[in-house]
Amino acid sequence: VDHFTLDPGFTSTGSCESQITFIDGDEGILLHRGYPIEQLAEKSSYLELCYLLLNGELPTKDEYEAFGKDVRQHTLLHTQQDRFFDGFRRDSHPMAMLTGAVGAMAAFYPGAMGNEDPEERRRDSIRLVAKMPTIAARCMKYNLGQKFVDPQNRLSYSENFLNMCFSVSAEDYEVNPVLARAMDRFFMLHADHEQNASTSTVRLVASSGAHPFAAIAAGVASLWGPSHGGANEAALRQLREIGDISNVPDFVKKVKDKSSGVRLMGFGHRVYKNYDPRAKVMQKTAHEVLDALDLRDHPLLKVAMELERIALQDEYFVAKKLYPNVDFYSGIILEAMGFPTKMFTVLFAVARTVGWVAQMNEMLEDPSQKIGRPRQIYTGAAMRDYTAMTSR
Ligand code: CMC
Repeated sequence: VDHFTLDPGFTSTGSCESQITFIDGDEGILLHRGYPIEQLAEKSSYLELCYLLLNGELPTKDEYEAFGKDVRQHTLLHTQQDRFFDGFRRDSHPMAMLTGAVGAMAAFYPGAMGNEDPEERRRDSIRLVAKMPTIAARCMKYNLGQKFVDPQNRLSYSENFLNMCFSVSAEDYEVNPVLARAMDRFFMLHADHEQNASTSTVRLVASSGAHPFAAIAAGVASLWGPSHGGANEAALRQLREIGDISNVPDFVKKVKDKSSGVRLMGFGHRVYKNYDPRAKVMQKTAHEVLDALDLRDHPLLKVAMELERIALQDEYFVAKKLYPNVDFYSGIILEAMGFPTKMFTVLFAVARTVGWVAQMNEMLEDPSQKIGRPRQIYTGAAMRDYTAMTSR
């Protein structure tokens, strides 16, 4: 008889040791390498956070500049990889394209397979962080039927991303600094979140020695679901469906009626049972963005705030400890910036890539690492003899 504990959904099983991200769900604390997310979101930048997650310490000025240069050097895609997009239907969901395009990177960089040289692994990590925004922007442009815009090295990571998404000729778009800062903050708030479904997927895939880019593609696939990264798209669609604050009480009633099967998207979290510290920063950022765009009376922001107000005093949500999560306000920001709703989860994937890579590298560098191999409790038929088809 095997001795192991059944833990569906891994609610109480640690899958690894990690030094990257700490979460205290009861206190609403999120630390990356020890630094609180609030301080990082306020004072740092996404690129600096990437360095921190990948290397364990904040960079010196020289290290930061060298890292930024390295990333900028790898932002372009192989021209054949650009042609890869033509194989998709024009109206494909961009997460479908992203899953395929990231997996295809394994074909363009076959050398990364089984790579044990730390310098080579570092280069592959940079490639992923650098190329993800380019691939994501191409997904958006492909959907829109517009020409791809190449990366511009004169711009920061987030400015460059906005430029690739919104400019038509690479030079015609003026990046609004408030929006660039909000984009950067969105990336920071989604950069890593310890052993969530997609990160655990990346670790599990990579634990077999699979190609690292294929492991990241698996992470993208896992992120797509509405219980995980797909929640930002689903949350915005829900806000739109509610439409007006006068419809909020009825909607809340529907959520509380379990038979409706409706969940309030952007609410609840497996680990946070007090509040999600990312949601607070996101809400503040939503106000900043809407102010900058003169959209203070955005109807969806009003619906979101009313939903939050009602839910936080309702006994259903209080008893189940359901609070807004990172995805509750992010959709409003992204919509105001002009992103199509279908792109929201792609943006989450761009941001989370560094977390996946840092976690994958940490696992591969751990000498005690074994292939991930969960067990099961078998509940099927007992041993029996095969019967011929004629006697069934
Ligand atoms: N709306 C209504 N009821 C909910 C919700 C919600 N958003 N979330 C949980 N519940 C209820 C659920 O029905 C269950 O009730 P009961 O105990 O009576 O059966 C209870 O709360 C516990 O829910 P659970 O599904 O067992 O909890 P979980 O830890 O497995 O799920 C979750 C966590 C995030 C999947 C869930 O809260 C959810 O579906 N939220 C909506 C989707 C969402 O916003 N996801 C984004 C998560 S944050 C971004 C990320 O990192 O991916």
